[in-house]
Amino acid sequence: MKKALITGASSGIGFEYAKHLNQNGWSLDLISHSEERSKKAREFFQNNNNNYFHFDLSKKDSILELLEKVDCPDLVVANAGITMMSKAGESTSLQRDELYYLLCGGVIDLIEGLVPRLKEKDASRIVIISSIGAVTPMPKSSLYASAKSAIYSYGRSVGEELADENVSVTISLPGYVKTNAHKRAGLDHLEKKIPFWMWVSAEKVVRTTEKASRAGKSTVIPGIAYKLVRPFLGMKITSKVWKMLNKRI
Ligand SMILES: NC(=O)c1ccc[n+]([C@@H]2O[C@H](COP(=O)([O-])OP(=O)(O)OC[C@H]3O[C@@H](n4cnc5c(N)ncnc54)[C@H](OP(=O)(O)O)[C@@H]3O)[C@@H](O)[C@H]2O)c1
Repeated sequence: MKKALITGASSGIGFEYAKHLNQNGWSLDLISHSEERSKKAREFFQNNNNNYFHFDLSKKDSILELLEKVDCPDLVVANAGITMMSKAGESTSLQRDELYYLLCGGVIDLIEGLVPRLKEKDASRIVIISSIGAVTPMPKSSLYASAKSAIYSYGRSVGEELADENVSVTISLPGYVKTNAHKRAGLDHLEKKIPFWMWVSAEKVVRTTEKASRAGKSTVIPGIAYKLVRPFLGMKITSKVWKMLNKRI
């Protein structure tokens, strides 16, 4: 039985990933922060082969403890994260440290800690859920966008390095996905403001990402709208339209 480790598995994209793999007979190590939300996932899966862990992954000690507790999986899905609105100059040092560790430093510590064991397997895969924000400016979310960009860059480089060791690395860059993320960040108004064609379902993100990972692709952008727009991201006119559509409060 293949084993996957999924961070942020209690809701949204991580929960959908867990559902997808569970349906396909995988055993799962599911990591999240809140015991309450994890309990709901446990009740949903009712699978004795799954293990549930609770860690605050914005803290270094959590990753170290996690690495000691888990067996080496065949697939790592580094997904846990939050979105954060942060006007320039208004975040605290602690907020920046925790956001950066959760979205980037901790993901790197997790992967670096598992790589020696992953390399010993005949084949293994790593999936990193980054964001389309990694490749386009996100005013008032510059910390989020820059952390997602850094982990995208790490994933691409380490992926090239590990290709000869039978460890594939796929970075997924989703656009807007309806999950708990925006509500948690106090950005629920975006659910009404962002046009319908800019939303991708969590199921679609998972199906597209898993297909790309199985095919050994390095980067994947789920959703046709984002795929079409991708070559134009970063251009002045696209940034202007993007800024208008994504206006933070
Ligand atoms: N939604 C979008 O539009 C969108 C777009 C692009 C990329 N993404 C990325 O997709 C990933 C998943 O987000 P989502 O949209 O599915 O959001 P979500 O529904 O809010 O789920 C977030 C998951 O991450 C876990 N998590 C958050 N902070 C954590 C912490 N400090 N320690 C441990 N676990 C933590 C949550 O666990 P608890 O429930 O236990 O707190 C939850 O399982 C994130 O990396 C996000 O940046 C989302």
